[in-house]
Amino acid sequence: MRSRLSRRAFLAGATALALPVPARAQSAARRLVMPPLLDARAAGRFSLRAAAGQHDFLGESPSDTAGFNRGYLGPVVRIAPGETEATVENAAGFAVTSHWHGLEVPGEADGGPHQTVAPGATWRTVLPVEQPPATAWYHSHIHGQTAPQVHAGLAGVLQILDGRDGDRGLPSDYGVDDLMLVLQDRRFDQDGRMVYRPTMHDRMVGHLGDWMVVNGQVDGVAAVPPGVVRLRLLNASNARIYRLTMRSGRGMHLVATEGGYLPTPLALDSLLLSPGERAEVLVDFAGAETDALVSDVIANMPMLAGGQGLRASQGRGRFTVLDFTADAGLPVRIDRLPDKIGDDVPEPGQAHDIARAFSLDMGMGMHGGFAINGASFAMERMDHVSKQGQTELWRVRADRMMHPFHVHGTRFRVLSENGQPPRPEYRGWKDTVLIDGEAELLMRFNHPAPAHAPYMFHCHILEHEDAGMMGQFSVA
Ligand code: C2O
Ligand code: CU
Ligand code: CU
Repeated sequence: MRSRLSRRAFLAGATALALPVPARAQSAARRLVMPPLLDARAAGRFSLRAAAGQHDFLGESPSDTAGFNRGYLGPVVRIAPGETEATVENAAGFAVTSHWHGLEVPGEADGGPHQTVAPGATWRTVLPVEQPPATAWYHSHIHGQTAPQVHAGLAGVLQILDGRDGDRGLPSDYGVDDLMLVLQDRRFDQDGRMVYRPTMHDRMVGHLGDWMVVNGQVDGVAAVPPGVVRLRLLNASNARIYRLTMRSGRGMHLVATEGGYLPTPLALDSLLLSPGERAEVLVDFAGAETDALVSDVIANMPMLAGGQGLRASQGRGRFTVLDFTADAGLPVRIDRLPDKIGDDVPEPGQAHDIARAFSLDMGMGMHGGFAINGASFAMERMDHVSKQGQTELWRVRADRMMHPFHVHGTRFRVLSENGQPPRPEYRGWKDTVLIDGEAELLMRFNHPAPAHAPYMFHCHILEHEDAGMMGQFSVA
């Protein structure tokens, strides 16, 4: 039984404003395990089976969880450009969906709240993927139940690969120099069982944990070769925002955002990653013995956004997300950063036919009352209609706290943040961005989404989404 006393002592002194710092257990190092691969590229099809399960996070006692094809989370599904057939079987005993977050697919294949898979039922769909290689993900998306279901484990990673990463000079040996890292924060009870019991405060700011969990593991240590390693990061936390750096100050070079590669590696001072976002960075571990990915504590406090949210969080402390140990026995395949990776990302441009304005409003009422443009989500109400192939400008505001804004069915470009050019990590293709004040997003929908299978736009703090900070639109 490991000691959590120091962490508990910290929590006892924590106020509602100074959020708990996730701490890792001081215990014998365990090697970080990658999620299993489900490679659908040769067959052109894959199956997921949602079911309740159990998972032991702390080595103390199993927690009741849910997952796809396993007890907690799902496999890393790998698909190639072209058509892939997806089958989702529901053995969970409650309704689920499987939304392909980051895939540009028609509304009917999107897996949003309207594509419910009833208990015992099976959903089959075809994913016509024409977008470039990317790290996407999938998760259940039942309206009002997304937060508890994703928290329980109904989420996984989906990678689009075109087999050309070798030419690009990018590490691609899965689990060796190409690591998938699913970042989550969780709470556990005295017996080491995961708990999801949102308080009133959690309903306001989202459910935050005080333990870091990476790939479903609490105290994993990632072994890496002493060369260039690719970290594919997914923030699958319900509400926690990370601002990541390497503890040693070792450089992090951004090579991909949610929708694909950047033209060249981009050196970052730190990497902002809010719920739903993905990023791929290269880190050169040459000469390292150990290092760690660390995060600032970001306090997402009501009333502090309007471009002040992240700045107001400066200096609130740090915690370890994941420890690394360099293993000279692992092969170094890439020993320098590539000069050129992808095609140029087109400039966002100015041309647009429709400007839409959204504000994310956090109600203060008794029942939560989260809304977009004053309206809480309603399954029967269509919020707007977009036109296939047309470029639109979306202006999104969040004044009282920061909200990660996600749009289904597209990849977009960030034109500006608070009137300025976007932060470095927002310069590529995106599908989720942290709104801290106002951002302008330029997007286009290439597939249809009929009224019975619309796309969603929503805050990816899952408690906010479930409480109504979501809207829907069709694409005609
Ligand atoms: Cu990651 Cu609408 O979802
Ligand atoms: Cu999505
Ligand atoms: Cu929100």
